[in-house]
Amino acid sequence: MKQSLITQKNRKLRHLRELYPEINIQLLYRRDILRLLAKYGHGPLAVEPRGAERVLLTAQQIQQRVQELGEEITRDYQGQEIVLIGVLRGVVCFMADLMRHLDLPLQMEFLEISHYGVEGGPGAGGEVTVTRDVQAAVEGRSVLLVEDIVDTGMTLQFLLRHLWSKRPASVAVCTLLDKRVRRMHEVPIRYRGFEIPDEFVVGYGLDYQGLYRNLPHIGVLTPVEPKGKVLLPADT
Ligand code: PRP
Repeated sequence: MKQSLITQKNRKLRHLRELYPEINIQLLYRRDILRLLAKYGHGPLAVEPRGAERVLLTAQQIQQRVQELGEEITRDYQGQEIVLIGVLRGVVCFMADLMRHLDLPLQMEFLEISHYGVEGGPGAGGEVTVTRDVQAAVEGRSVLLVEDIVDTGMTLQFLLRHLWSKRPASVAVCTLLDKRVRRMHEVPIRYRGFEIPDEFVVGYGLDYQGLYRNLPHIGVLTPVEPKGKVLLPADT
């Protein structure tokens, strides 16, 4: 929040990490906080998007890569039946295309989660909750969890714990996009379409405030940070 305090903060962090090596301690810069807020439609970056300005991945690049992933997964799971679980809603385009390249017996399932929940309802305390669980029993079966994007890794960490509690034989993760640079929790990713830079991406299922999901390509959206007072917790 205050650039002048960065050396002191880094020293503090170093001490904390020495004292508590088992705890994952991350330093969030002002930009990170704004991005996290924007992701869920809050804060200054959540207003006045300029639109999808730049194509990051063309429809053709995506289709090519999805086919390659499908072939790789088909090879790896030869002779097995899998449960393909998509995380709604961003995953719909990827899941629909990927499954058509899987030459395996499979069952399709979906999971839906909420990051905040309805006031007074599940997830109202800010935690992640499952609002729609898988319908099929997955115990003893091979699960392939499909995501459109892994960003901080927090959703995936939660989902893996949730799925492992159902005692499947295995769980592997397949994500179209990996924003590795923003990771806060290390999560195992077995199949990765593209590693992408720290940009706000939309299209091919990914949204910005519910829009842009129907773009056939993936574009970069540049939200405008309005001038003036930014409402954030007080400077530390
Ligand atoms: C996206 C994506 C992942 C999550 C990853 O979902 O589908 O579930 O964000 O972010 P993380 O690694 O920082 O936890 P989003 O919340 O945008 O919902 P949507 O799929 O309905 O668009």
